[in-house]
Amino acid sequence: MKITMPTIIFGEQVIECEQGENLRHVLLKAKLPLYNGIAAAIHCRGMGTCGTCAIDVEGSVSEITSVEKWRLSFPPHKSDSGLRLACQCKVLGDLKLKKHGGMWGNRTDASSRSSRNA
Ligand code: FES
Repeated sequence: MKITMPTIIFGEQVIECEQGENLRHVLLKAKLPLYNGIAAAIHCRGMGTCGTCAIDVEGSVSEITSVEKWRLSFPPHKSDSGLRLACQCKVLGDLKLKKHGGMWGNRTDASSRSSRNA
């Protein structure tokens, strides 16, 4: 029996992982840039409290956790952003990921434009 492994697309990179693996661990193991700038050194190491591993996820991951929901509900995050915290997600299927700018990875092109114009 062939076991299929989820495929993860991150920018130009394509990797595979085990189903159910923690998304943060998968990305760090593959040396993909989950954290922006100084966040690479001062993040919470996967506790779900800093919010710097926020990422746009297209595809199947585990349900949002209570700590993830809590962290994504206060600034600089916005509860309606649609972002997920990689450290709280289990990979359940193929994914396409996009990391946005800013220390918390919350600056989409639209929000960067509006903050520059403010
Ligand atoms: S690593 Fe801090 S919230 Fe995910």
